[in-house]
Amino acid sequence: MLRCRPTPPALVLLVLLQGVAVVLLVGWYGNLLPSIRAPTQGKVHVLLLSSWRSGSSFLGQVFSQHPDVFYLMEPAWHVWTTLQQPGARALRMAVRDLVRSVFQCDFSVFEAYTPEHRNVSNLFMWSHSRALCSPPACPLTPRRAFSNESECKRRCDTRGLQGAEDACRSYSHVVVKEVRFFDLVSLYPLLRDPAIDLRIIHLIRDPRAVVKSREQAVKALMRDNALVLEEGDAEVIDTQYRVMQEVCRSHVRIHETATLKPPDFLRGRYKMVRYEDLVLNPLDEIESMYSFAGLEMNMQLQEWIYRITHGKGKGTRKEAFKITSRNAKDVAQAWRTTLPHDKVQRIQEVCKGAMSLLGYRLVDSKKEQAQLDLDLVESRKHYRFTWLPRKTTTPSRG
Ligand SMILES: *[C@@H]1O[C@H](CO)[C@@H](O)[C@H](O)[C@H]1NC(C)=O
Ligand SMILES: *[C@@H]1O[C@H](CO)[C@@H](O)[C@H](O)[C@H]1NC(C)=O
Repeated sequence: MLRCRPTPPALVLLVLLQGVAVVLLVGWYGNLLPSIRAPTQGKVHVLLLSSWRSGSSFLGQVFSQHPDVFYLMEPAWHVWTTLQQPGARALRMAVRDLVRSVFQCDFSVFEAYTPEHRNVSNLFMWSHSRALCSPPACPLTPRRAFSNESECKRRCDTRGLQGAEDACRSYSHVVVKEVRFFDLVSLYPLLRDPAIDLRIIHLIRDPRAVVKSREQAVKALMRDNALVLEEGDAEVIDTQYRVMQEVCRSHVRIHETATLKPPDFLRGRYKMVRYEDLVLNPLDEIESMYSFAGLEMNMQLQEWIYRITHGKGKGTRKEAFKITSRNAKDVAQAWRTTLPHDKVQRIQEVCKGAMSLLGYRLVDSKKEQAQLDLDLVESRKHYRFTWLPRKTTTPSRG
């Protein structure tokens, strides 16, 4: 009898054990419910966040051609072109939710934005995704090979998006490039979502070079301009400074959100990259971005990067990117000889804050603008800020 009566310490122990059991059970049960806690299963999600004419297509290819990456370019194009009306601000949640679905390889979201009987070719710029030119989406390009956009376009179109979804599920990394985010706050739900292990790479470029590049694409940018400016049909004339102002503001907003007192869930998840550093030192910069995203560099990729950034090289195949090491600096500087100084001054006026934050020196005169040995890109140590990448992905973060 006496032996059956628990002593007070034993009682405490029993209560504790019961507590532990409850915690374990709830934890186990919680894991069974994906809506409560869906682990990422080691999957990493990368958002290449940039703006128009800032080298983001090149950066996109750097990820797209990696054998562990499923890449999609500008899926939010569908949102902007379908829903157009309200302007960028009103569309940001729709854009965010579309990107979330893509990260989760749920392509049913495109039903809202594509024709009823859709083909994979209804996805914007689909053939720029190496993964959509490789098995299981298409037999054309072996997974470790580099895809050819025009070949892929010709031979990899299929009915439905099932193939794309299956392909997406079969990769460890899903990478999306977007120019249609203007803040990080709308991405907070993704950053907090335990099912998504998000890393954000923010690519920026000297606004003066951006303007020069935008001038070669005035028509193509008209519709987007109107949405950026929240205007139904903005006139082309003089919109460009106002658009640049919005773009510059958004860079400041994004960078400051990530670097000044960022919320905990942003730590280790943001990296800023300047286009100028990327073209001058592509291998190091790309290696560091890969490592931030948890991707391995290999010999084959190194050779390919060398080839596309140096123009000629092994073989005589003409590559899609015309950045050569010889002219990388020229490309970065071209605006200095082609943009009139009064234009440069206006860009500097509207983008002053962003330029000083991101390390671009202003020119004060026509003479300074023309003096090409005067370096206008501050060395990185003066501006550079990145969080150290997190060690690795744990099955369930948060
Ligand atoms: C969709 O893909 C199928 C299969 O490749 C092709 O035969 C068809 O022409 C495509 N349809 C459209 C509208 O592109
Ligand atoms: C892609 O393939 C086409 C032939 O379809 C060829 O003309 C072109 O040079 C190839 N591009 C590259 C970058 O290899």
